[in-house]
Amino acid sequence: MAAGTESIVKYGIIGVGMMGREHLVNLYHLRSQGVAVVCIADPHVPSQQLALSVAESFNWPLQVFSGHKQILDSGLCDVVVVSTPNMTHFEILMDILNYPKPHHVLVEKPLCTTVADCRRVVEAAKRRPDMLVQVGLEYRYMAPVAKLIDIVKCGTLGQVKMVAIREHRFPFLVKVNNWNRFNCNSGGTLVEKCCHFFDLMRLFAGANPVRVMASGAIDVNHKDEIYDGKVPDIIDNAYVIVEFDNGSRGMLDLCMFAEGSKNEQEISVVGDGGKGEAFVPESIVRWGTRVGGREGVQTLQASDDRIQYDGLHHGSSYLEHLNFLSAVRAKGAQAPAVNLHDGLISVAIGVAGQLSIEKGRFATIEEVINE
Ligand SMILES: NC(=O)c1ccc[n+]([C@@H]2O[C@H](COP(=O)([O-])OP(=O)(O)OC[C@H]3O[C@@H](n4cnc5c(N)ncnc54)[C@H](O)[C@@H]3O)[C@@H](O)[C@H]2O)c1
Repeated sequence: MAAGTESIVKYGIIGVGMMGREHLVNLYHLRSQGVAVVCIADPHVPSQQLALSVAESFNWPLQVFSGHKQILDSGLCDVVVVSTPNMTHFEILMDILNYPKPHHVLVEKPLCTTVADCRRVVEAAKRRPDMLVQVGLEYRYMAPVAKLIDIVKCGTLGQVKMVAIREHRFPFLVKVNNWNRFNCNSGGTLVEKCCHFFDLMRLFAGANPVRVMASGAIDVNHKDEIYDGKVPDIIDNAYVIVEFDNGSRGMLDLCMFAEGSKNEQEISVVGDGGKGEAFVPESIVRWGTRVGGREGVQTLQASDDRIQYDGLHHGSSYLEHLNFLSAVRAKGAQAPAVNLHDGLISVAIGVAGQLSIEKGRFATIEEVINE
């Protein structure tokens, strides 16, 4: 949809730290689709200034506010992007959902830091059929992951039995006021970061999680950091096993002191008929069948021609916005691709994983969903 043939969809961004500015740049690359960012809200002046200088370089004038309520009261935008620290999502979402004028919402992952808060948001959203809410579980859009999802959906691998996801990467980055150093702010590593992977496991397994067993600790990173007299408590490595209600199982292998890795994510999906793999950022997909054996394994370099900007997440933020914009323009005829239920379940698996580590036993989804 070229600009001019439909009215401009106006965006406001709440929280313009690293990810909020990333949304700003992505939306700029969607300008030919008829979008504009018209305002931002952030109480942290350096974040405001960085966002303003990005917008100036695009020739996009921005109204600047210090809080989300002012964005809502301004009536300036149709869509808000919530990219604030995890522990603020709940209050901001509830204010948006209770505000008389409707705003469509793209909220960053994790939906909230607790299952109880996610459920309150889900309930509040049911009362607002005039608003679309999409959760930023964007790994689904990465080209090699999307290709592997297609392969699974086509039935090439048969009935999926095992989904193994390895994330080996660098430590958590430094954030504004170091909010991500503590479980109480982030929800814990298995919620904050791994909700992406639990969402993918659910997609590949085509089933709902039943119980989770995890082992993890803070072994290497952040041990020499102190904030207001406290040492960070976020785990930096874990193994997590997730059992699904169709008998399939998932395993996450997380290590956040693995800068020496070629790939950040390696995903393996095995069905009763074949095996598929995806590698990020190499963007390679491999798949083969039990009948075809090793000789029959195919390799593909995955890409997506629609991507105009790769950004920090290999073009997935761009596709996430493209997808959400299409739902917004469909005016209710198209549901958001990643809905609040997806957001809730991805958090619930993470919470169950954190509980399993704490208690040293399996934690059921049933016990955390009713917390
Ligand atoms: N999709 C992804 O893969 C991905 C990657 C990174 C971060 N994130 C998510 O994006 C969100 C933001 O993370 P970040 O890395 O940008 O953090 P950040 O610390 O860089 O930025 C957060 C910004 O929000 C501002 N803020 C704090 N409270 C606010 C409030 N009440 N109203 C408005 N602004 C407020 C802060 O001042 C800061 O500028 C988090 O939920 C995080 O989990 C997602």
